[in-house]
Amino acid sequence: MKPSRSWLTLLALFTLLLAVLAALPLPAHAQQQQQQQGLVDAMRGPTPIGNESKAPILYPTENKDIRRNRNYTMQPPTIPHKIDGYQVDKDFNRCMFCHARTRTEETQAIPVSITHYMDRDNNVLAEVSPRRYFCTQCHVPQADAKPLVGNSFIDVEQMLKRKPGAKGAADTKGAAK
Ligand code: HEC
Ligand code: HEC
Repeated sequence: MKPSRSWLTLLALFTLLLAVLAALPLPAHAQQQQQQQGLVDAMRGPTPIGNESKAPILYPTENKDIRRNRNYTMQPPTIPHKIDGYQVDKDFNRCMFCHARTRTEETQAIPVSITHYMDRDNNVLAEVSPRRYFCTQCHVPQADAKPLVGNSFIDVEQMLKRKPGAKGAADTKGAAK
């Protein structure tokens, strides 16, 4: 069956309408935003793709020696002390110099937990498991810097206390404004 004439006219009109709409300028505020920000990534800021962005200032690393809360049970705890210049390579692990079971009396560091000695089949090894050797894969020091992106994470403890159906995302801690 051939499409009828009127059908074709309608289609042509519709295509024309789409083309006109696409050619219309963006609403003023959206345009302004784009100009202000360039094509933005929260970490790059307004720097155009072709240019190298300016590195942000370095914030001092937190060094309070106070253990932080964990946000959930299996979170690798954040490092509460500086780790500048600590050697962690195939020859030496500076972290284990303090965090090994046998070193904790002297250093008062928390010994690495049993999971660090387990291989993927849950066999407990005598040495730190290779998959837990490079500590900073999972543990990171903290800086008192403004977060670059928002975060609406809610602690499960808080979630349990919520009334059913209530929205908990309202009090987003640490979200960038
Ligand atoms: C000179 C000894 C020393 C070295 C080296 C060291 N730490 Fe620590 N670490 C400590 C002590 C002591 C604490 C307890 C809190 C405090 O006093 O800072 C601690 C706390 C921590 C915690 C917090 C544990 C928790 O349950 O909250 C983590 C994680 C950690 N260290 C990771 C590391 C990593 C990773 C390295 C290597 C890059 C490292 N540490 C090197 C002494 C050390
Ligand atoms: C693959 C990720 C991973 C790596 C690598 C890793 N850890 Fe952990 N670490 C964790 C997790 C997850 C926890 C919390 C749960 C647990 O104990 O397994 C933890 C807990 C800890 C704790 C607290 C222990 C306690 O009993 O409270 C210390 C201290 C620690 N790690 C130090 C280290 C050090 C030092 C290294 C390097 C030798 C290291 N970790 C490597 C994931 C990792």
